[in-house]
Amino acid sequence: MKLDFLKQKFPQKHKHLIVKFLVAIFLTGVACRFLFFQSEEFLPVLESPFPEKTVVPEFTLPAQVPYNLDQISPKDFNSGEKCDTFTGEWIPDPSGPIYTNKTCKLIESPQNCMRNGRPDTGYLYWRWKPRGCELPRFDAERFLDMMRNKIWALIGDSIARNHVQSLLCMLSTVDRPVLIYHDEEYKSKRWLFPSYNFTISVIWSPFLVKAAIFEDFNGVSTSEVELHLDKLDDNWTDLYKNLDYMIISSGEWFLKSSIYYENDTILGCHYCPKRNLAELGFNFAYRKALQFVMNFIVTSNHKGLIFFRTSQPDHFENGEWFNGGTCERKAPVKEGEIQLKELNSILRDIELEEFAKAAVKASKNGVNLKLLDLTPLSLLRPDGHPGPYRQFHPFARGKNAKVQRDCLHWCLPGPIDSWNDVIMEMVVNGQENQPFR
Ligand SMILES: *[C@@H]1O[C@H](CO)[C@@H](O)[C@H](O)[C@H]1NC(C)=O
Ligand SMILES: *[C@@H]1O[C@H](CO)[C@@H](O)[C@H](O)[C@H]1NC(C)=O
Ligand SMILES: *[C@@H]1O[C@H](CO)[C@@H](O)[C@H](O)[C@H]1NC(C)=O
Ligand SMILES: *[C@@H]1O[C@H](CO)[C@@H](O)[C@H](O)[C@H]1NC(C)=O
Repeated sequence: MKLDFLKQKFPQKHKHLIVKFLVAIFLTGVACRFLFFQSEEFLPVLESPFPEKTVVPEFTLPAQVPYNLDQISPKDFNSGEKCDTFTGEWIPDPSGPIYTNKTCKLIESPQNCMRNGRPDTGYLYWRWKPRGCELPRFDAERFLDMMRNKIWALIGDSIARNHVQSLLCMLSTVDRPVLIYHDEEYKSKRWLFPSYNFTISVIWSPFLVKAAIFEDFNGVSTSEVELHLDKLDDNWTDLYKNLDYMIISSGEWFLKSSIYYENDTILGCHYCPKRNLAELGFNFAYRKALQFVMNFIVTSNHKGLIFFRTSQPDHFENGEWFNGGTCERKAPVKEGEIQLKELNSILRDIELEEFAKAAVKASKNGVNLKLLDLTPLSLLRPDGHPGPYRQFHPFARGKNAKVQRDCLHWCLPGPIDSWNDVIMEMVVNGQENQPFR
C-alpha cells in the first residue's frame, strides 16, 4: 500500500504553534454574487466579485510545512494512474479551444473575456503536458458515450460553477444541454444531455458543512458566517447517494469572518473583533470541516467515483483584489516561477494532509476517492483570468478607468478547460482499473 509512508509524514506536533500573521485584509475571492436573467442563455450580471474584506489577524499555522510537496506525488494517492497527471508544464498548442463564445451559449458574462473585449488570444493556445506522458485532449463524444444514464455533480463555490460552464461548453460541441433545475438564486443548477440521458449538476456549497451566510443582494456580508463544523450541508448530501461521479471542492470561503459551532455551541470564531470570542483561525475550521466531510465520504459505502479537488490559487500581483492587484500576464509560467501565496498554501496543506488520511480509509472501505490536484497546473496560468474583462468593455470610457480585476476565476474558453482533459483521463483510467456500476 503506497500510502503507508504518508502516515508518518503528518505528525501532529506542529499544529499548536501560533504564528502571528499580519495580513490586514485578504481576498475572499470566491464570494461572487450573480443575478441572472431567466433567458435561455442565462446572461448574468455581476456585482462586485470580491465583495467582502476578511481580516486575518492571527491563526495557527504549522511551524513549517510538514512535508516536502515534491516528495508526495498525487500519484501516491491515485494508485493505478499511468502517470502523474498533475506535474508537468504548459506547452504551445496551435489547435486551441474546442468551443468559442459563439458556439457555447452558457458562458456567464464575467468569464466571457473575448466578448468583453479582452484583446489578446495567446492564452488560448496551450495544453497541459504531464511529465512523462501525454494527456489526450478531452473527447466530448467519447465522454458522453461513457456517461450514458449517469449523474455527475460539481460541488463547491464559484470555481465549481466556472468549471461546470467549461465542461458544459466542451460537451455542447456534441449535444445541447437542457437546464432542468435551478434554485431560486441560480446557484445550484442541473442540466440534462437528452440524447445521452446524462445529468450534470453544479451544487452550491462553498463550505461543504452547514452554514448560515448573511450577505445582502450585492454579496456584502452583513454579519459573520455561522459555520457548523459537525453538520454537513444538505445541499450536497441530499443528492450524494444518487451521484455516479462528483467533484468536491472548497477552500477560500473559509477565510471569511465566521463564528464556529459544534453541537450547536459556539467554539470560537475567525476574525470577529466585535465579539468576545476566541480567535481559532480559519485553518482550525477548514481542517475540522474537511475531516468531517472526509469521514462522511469514506464511511458512506458510495459506489461511484469521488474526486476531491484541491483549492484554487489566485494570481493578483502588485496588490490584492481590493487595492489594485492585477493579472496582466499573457502566457503561462514555468514551474517554480510563481509561488503559492501563503494563505493558499495553508489551505492546500490541510487539503493534502486530510486527503491522505481519508484515502487510507477509503481504500480500506472500498470507496473510490481520488485526489484531483489541480492547484499546481492552475498556478502556472496567471494569464488565464478575466482581469478587467470580467466587465463588458471595461475601458470603453478611457484607458485609465478604474476597473475591478478578477484574477481568480477563469476566462472561457481558457485554462480551466484543461481540467477536463485531466478528469477525462482519470475517468477513463478509473474505468479500466476498477469498473463500477
Ligand atoms: C467572441 O466574441 C466577440 C464579440 O462578440 C467576437 O468578436 C469574437 O469573434 C468571438 N470570438 C470567437 C472565437 O467566437
Ligand atoms: C436515465 O438515467 C437515470 C439515472 O441517471 C435512470 O434512473 C433512468 O432510468 C434513465 N432513463 C432511461 C430512459 O434510461
Ligand atoms: C445551499 O444552497 C442555497 C441555494 O442555492 C444557498 O442559499 C445556501 O447558502 C446553500 N447552503 C450553504 C450551507 O452554503
Ligand atoms: C451536545 O449538547 C447537548 C446539550 O446542549 C448535550 O446534552 C450533549 O451531551 C452534547 N453532545 C456532545 C457530543 O457534546
